[in-house]
Amino acid sequence: MKIAIVGTGYVGLVSGACFAEMGVDVTCVDIAEEKIESLKQGIIPIYEPGLKNIVQRNYSAQRLHFTTDLTAVLNGVDIVFIAVGTPSGEDGSADLSYVFRVAETIAENMTKPALIVTKSTVPVGTSHKIKELVSAKLAQRGLSDLEFDVASNPEFLKEGAAVDDFMSPDRVVVGVESERAEKLMARLYRPFMLNNFRVIFMDILSSEMTKYASNAMLATRISFMNDIANLSERVGADVNMVRRGLGSDSRIGRSFLYPGCGYGGSCFPKDIKALIKVAADTGYEMKVLKAVEAVNDAQKTILFQKFSEFFNGEIAGKTVAVWGLSFKPETDDMRDAPSITLINSLLSSGVSVRVYDPAAMKEAAHRFGDAIYYATDIYDAANDADAIIVPTEWKEFRIPNWQILKKIMRSHVVVDGRNIYNRADLESQGFGYKGIGQK
Ligand SMILES: NC(=O)c1ccc[n+]([C@@H]2O[C@H](COP(=O)([O-])OP(=O)(O)OC[C@H]3O[C@@H](n4cnc5c(N)ncnc54)[C@H](O)[C@@H]3O)[C@@H](O)[C@H]2O)c1
Repeated sequence: MKIAIVGTGYVGLVSGACFAEMGVDVTCVDIAEEKIESLKQGIIPIYEPGLKNIVQRNYSAQRLHFTTDLTAVLNGVDIVFIAVGTPSGEDGSADLSYVFRVAETIAENMTKPALIVTKSTVPVGTSHKIKELVSAKLAQRGLSDLEFDVASNPEFLKEGAAVDDFMSPDRVVVGVESERAEKLMARLYRPFMLNNFRVIFMDILSSEMTKYASNAMLATRISFMNDIANLSERVGADVNMVRRGLGSDSRIGRSFLYPGCGYGGSCFPKDIKALIKVAADTGYEMKVLKAVEAVNDAQKTILFQKFSEFFNGEIAGKTVAVWGLSFKPETDDMRDAPSITLINSLLSSGVSVRVYDPAAMKEAAHRFGDAIYYATDIYDAANDADAIIVPTEWKEFRIPNWQILKKIMRSHVVVDGRNIYNRADLESQGFGYKGIGQK
């Protein structure tokens, strides 16, 4: 089986490499020439555990190919996946211009029957719009008889564990509307079905909706827990204990109940916005999701507030070490990361910022230029600092040498955005400590 995946980002590259690992012949297509050239030389443009090996192995085995020219591969493949970005537009709706541009290129160049599958996260109805667009273009080209299908196959992988998630998914959702499309998708996902992972076939609209509903539910759990954390602080409860008690209920479960400094990343913020907008366009108000978004926006300011409280608001001239910049550990992705809100607030209050992240330094330099200091490790970041603020819980931050930090810091404050430290432990070593949802 031969497939093309258009868009070689976090989703396209991981999907392409993993399908190739299953024996499929995959061509990953992207308009970014630099990216494609790097990949051909074995350089992986993103940080994602396990991805490098699998890309290099399958590229060497000639099951994985890279190109900038979709038209050259289009008519030699059984399935074309669209996996380009769908960022937030100005009004909060998903910007579908990249998706439709790919659909147009397909429609302008296809000469053989095709299955066009949307893997990007797209509002309900988008695959049908792609179908209309392609039909209209084929008619213009005098190819109305050329058969093609559309399908929806949203992606549920998590950055930081993307390869494992793709290879061992909780479920694969496939939206189809023809037997022909269902058969092809079943063939592609057969290795997963053999491994007993659930592949759920449904109609296209429900498939598109399932992706948004899943992200909306996860974001809701996070904002709910952040609300409970903020209340716990005010009434003297410890949210770490509350979370353990709550998550032990099998009806509720433990995942996505960690309070923190807000969700970020390339998916939740934009997908929540898009779903609110889709609903508004139908005249329906998503009240729960509006609250989820408002809680999250407020939560992203909490680290700055806690830091400022330590110094009674007199923070101009202070120096802060920020440990962790990516929106979560094990990725270099900083899109909508809470660290960005924090650093902007610090800078605009006259605070000097020294940052360290195991993977996102290049990305940070791209965003902040010479406005901040880029440290070589956590100790370099903390050198002469008044406070350490932790927006992201990378493993290497968990057990620092507090004695060294005591010596090299100017004042001794820790604001822990992910509750990875123990208050009593830090206070006994002479540090002031504020976590989330604890006294
Ligand atoms: N990142 C995630 O964790 C994740 C998880 C599930 C779903 N998604 C969804 O998957 C989609 C892709 O997300 P991503 O994070 O991989 O995006 P990304 O920004 O990392 O990658 C998108 C790629 O598409 C390329 N591109 C844009 N227009 C193109 C065109 N006309 N032809 C070829 N390539 C083109 C870009 O150059 C870029 O390399 C989005 O809809 C996103 O919501 C993302």
